[in-house]
This record gives sequence, C-alpha cells and structure tokens, in this order.
Amino acid sequence: MKDINEYSLTQAVKDSFKTEPDSRFEQLLHGLIDHLHDFTREHQLTHEEWMRVLMFLYDCGKISTPERHEFILLSDVLGFSALVDMVNSRGGATEGSNLGPFYLDNAPRKPLGADLSDERDGVCILVHGKVTDSLHNPLPGAIVDTWQADAAGTYPIQEQEQGQDKMDLRGVFEADENGRYWYTTVLPKPYTVPYDGPVGELLRAGKRHAWRPAHLHYIVRHPGMNSITTEVFFENMDYIDNDAVFGVRKSLIAKVKPAKKADIPYETQKTPDAVVEFDFVLAPES
Ligand code: BEZ
Ligand code: FE
Repeated sequence: MKDINEYSLTQAVKDSFKTEPDSRFEQLLHGLIDHLHDFTREHQLTHEEWMRVLMFLYDCGKISTPERHEFILLSDVLGFSALVDMVNSRGGATEGSNLGPFYLDNAPRKPLGADLSDERDGVCILVHGKVTDSLHNPLPGAIVDTWQADAAGTYPIQEQEQGQDKMDLRGVFEADENGRYWYTTVLPKPYTVPYDGPVGELLRAGKRHAWRPAHLHYIVRHPGMNSITTEVFFENMDYIDNDAVFGVRKSLIAKVKPAKKADIPYETQKTPDAVVEFDFVLAPES
C-alpha cells in the first residue's frame, strides 16, 4: 500500500486526475489543489472550521436562484471579481469593473441624446464622451450599453412588483461618426449589495458595510475590438473609497460639473443640470 501522509497526499490527489499534460485545465486544477492543501497545512484547519466553510457554501447554494447569484456576490466581496478584472485589463484600454447582477442583454436601442430617466426625480446629468482605440482613433458605430440605479439607489428591475418596468434606466446607444455618445439620465445614488443571506453574514462577521458608491454600468463593444465591461463612478461621492465589492479604480472616476449651456454641443431630449464626461478606450481583439 502507498505510504500517504499530509505532504505526499497533495501529489497523489493531483495524479488521480487524468488531465491532459500541461493543459490549462491541469494547471488550474493542480494550482487550486496546491493552494488549498497548503492553506490547510499552514492553518492546521480543524474539522469544525472546514465544516463551517462547507455549510457556508451550502447556504450560498441554497439561497441562489437564476436572479440571485450568491457565489458571484461572494466573489465580489472577497475581491476575486475585481482581481479577475485587474489581471485581464489590457494595456491602454479602459479598466474593467463589476458586471453586477442587474444586466439585461436585450435593453432597448435609444437614439443619441435620449433621456433614460423617464421623468424620475433627481439631478439630470448629461453623460457624454468618445469611444476610441488606444491611439485615440474614434470608433464610429461603437455600441454603448448602459444600466443604472435611480436617485434612491434602486434598479427598476428590483421593483417590478411595485409596477416598475425592468427596462427603465437602461439603453443601448450607437456612437456617431466621430465615436461620440451622449444621453441624459438621473444621477444615481449609492446602494447596498444584498446582505440578507450568507454573504451578508460574512460582511457582518467582518464588521464590513454593504454599500456601493453611486455608479453607471457599461458594456462597450465594437467589431474587431475587445469589448469592455466597466463602471463609471463620481468624484467625492459617498463610499468612493470603500466600495463593498472593490469595483472603483482611479481611472473610472468622473467629475460631475454644473451644466453650462455653452459647454453642451449636443441636442438632448431633456435639459441637464450637470455634465459627466467619460471616454472609453477599446483594445484590438486578441
Ligand atoms: C452592482 O453594481 O449592481 C452590484 C455589483 C456587485 C454586487 C451587487 C450589485
Ligand atoms: Fe450596480
């Protein structure tokens, strides 16, 4: 019989998988086994502690539904989602940030200059900018897909039972011949990630809050370029320095400037109170 001990076990487990040598799958699986076994040895994990981890994961599974992904939330609050964004950031391109749970892939197309707020209360902002490649060449026809919370920090999709239309506060724009996009909307407010489940328990155990700073979500696409999923935040707003899901990057913070008529070269459906400018940079497909 093989002499197996707390050290030789790690190689035995790796060998037990008949993976294709040097494949990506093998590298990731072996890496995961190495790190988890090292973690267990280093901290001399007890049975109770390991069972607590397994029950926590069980609870995450139990509360998850197609609309509520507790494992994604776990990845978010542990900084894994942010880390995957960071290691996949391409030089020169706009940095990536959280997709979040409220994206819908069939949001309505809107003409440039449209208003997304549908008469909602709040500060009306003009959001505008350019979509370019990393050499500043405009990308005409780039698709700017956006969604956001309202001035109370709520996504309409969360309030469908109260009569809200889930397609509100979202829209898909096509950049003009100079790669420019513009529209008006309401300035969103901060909101909390769901904290009534196991991840909320984890946050409370770590004396952490569940707030995200106000933000606008984007997916920006153009043929031949890598699409980006990101968020735009606002300077000096609450929670900008302590986002519960670590989504904020310096390069993703925009200023909210009072709207001066002379500074607004665009036709808009609604007259804005303030202006937010943000340019997106896409890198070529790799
Ligand atoms: C959001 O930005 O919509 C979000 C991100 C992570 C967790 C929950 C919500
Ligand atoms: Fe969000």
